[in-house]
Amino acid sequence: MLILGIESSCDDTSVALIDASARGFKILAEKTASQIEIHKKYGGVVPEIAGRCHAEQILPLIEELLNHLTPHPSPSKGEGNLRPDVIAVTSGPGLITGLMVGVEAAKTLAYLWNIPVMGVNHIEGHIHSVEIQNSKKQETNNIEYPISNIRYPALALIASGGHTELILIKKQGHYKKIGATLDDAAGECFDKVAKLLGFDYPGGPKISKFAETGNPQAIKFPRPMLDKDNFDFSFAGLKTSALYWLRDHGPIVKHAKSDAKKRDSSTSLRSARNDIGVNDVCASFEQAIIDVLVGKTLKAVEKYQPKSVILAGGVSANKKLRKTLAQSLAPYSIFHAPSLAYAMDNAAMIAVAGYYHAIKKNFTPWQKLKADPEWEIA
Ligand code: KG4
Ligand code: ZN
Repeated sequence: MLILGIESSCDDTSVALIDASARGFKILAEKTASQIEIHKKYGGVVPEIAGRCHAEQILPLIEELLNHLTPHPSPSKGEGNLRPDVIAVTSGPGLITGLMVGVEAAKTLAYLWNIPVMGVNHIEGHIHSVEIQNSKKQETNNIEYPISNIRYPALALIASGGHTELILIKKQGHYKKIGATLDDAAGECFDKVAKLLGFDYPGGPKISKFAETGNPQAIKFPRPMLDKDNFDFSFAGLKTSALYWLRDHGPIVKHAKSDAKKRDSSTSLRSARNDIGVNDVCASFEQAIIDVLVGKTLKAVEKYQPKSVILAGGVSANKKLRKTLAQSLAPYSIFHAPSLAYAMDNAAMIAVAGYYHAIKKNFTPWQKLKADPEWEIA
């Protein structure tokens, strides 16, 4: 089954074509247009600009994706007449301006090609991103991945720019959210503190790079909600605490700003009033987030005893988080995280999640498919 995946819920316009069957799936081609360079100027994603960029990019990307394949058509389709069997599009949650572009493009193509279409939840896409396990994104790769190497019941920790959630998955497709952030998402907190340090959007990767050479014990940032008897998160207080610390240690911010421009994580600039450097601030802040994410996940593992634990969403690209969680889980559960190339938003994960709906014929008539920016997975 050839599945066209479309993802446009935030700042990446991404399209992918996968060939999936009960045996496994191959990513035949994928194209992504990132808007990071455009949003960088504003310090974060500007929804209206994002919508405009998605609208400009989406059809050229799909055309390129399909053109790329014409020399190697599926036997059933005939040369030069390649079209997918099914379309899977992210229809929520996310920015309405982006979601609408993807959904309307999917509906139009489904109507024109007379093929089924389905809306896929973005979080469900991230969950299935762990099934794509190659280390490098390639234009066309012939690796065949097995379908569903996840053992259930599973527990998913989704940490991204928009979400921080713990989801219990009894079996594939049966989700129960057991905890979520009450305010900022983990990635959002990384990005906001990075902005205070003068790093460009998205700041998460920059903080983790600087943190590599810093002392995680240098500053005692709070571990919000860690002692609460539930699976919810809250990162706004941690962000404020970083803000106050930086306000009280002003010179470090100046240093950080010039340091960020130089992009040199090994620079060890010290504030006038103490011996703490930018890399120490980053390491201490990163450690606070990791302690909370890992601590809460372990509590949920203790309670629900899942066979596997999935870490996904953009923050899963954080190497220290991966390592800490994998090590802490080792005696209890199998640990899954996407390969780094598929940790951030991408259309291949949407197509893979779509496969599970397609085999159940869980399609949406194109007339009824709508973008839903608040769509909760469960
Ligand atoms: O899943 P994603 O691509 O988009 C959303 O659905 O939000 O996640 C993007 C988020 C950003 O906040 C970015 O700063 C964060 O993932 N991120 C990281 C790292 N790489 C990306 N956060 C911490 N450490 C990283 N290495
Ligand atoms: Zn995402």
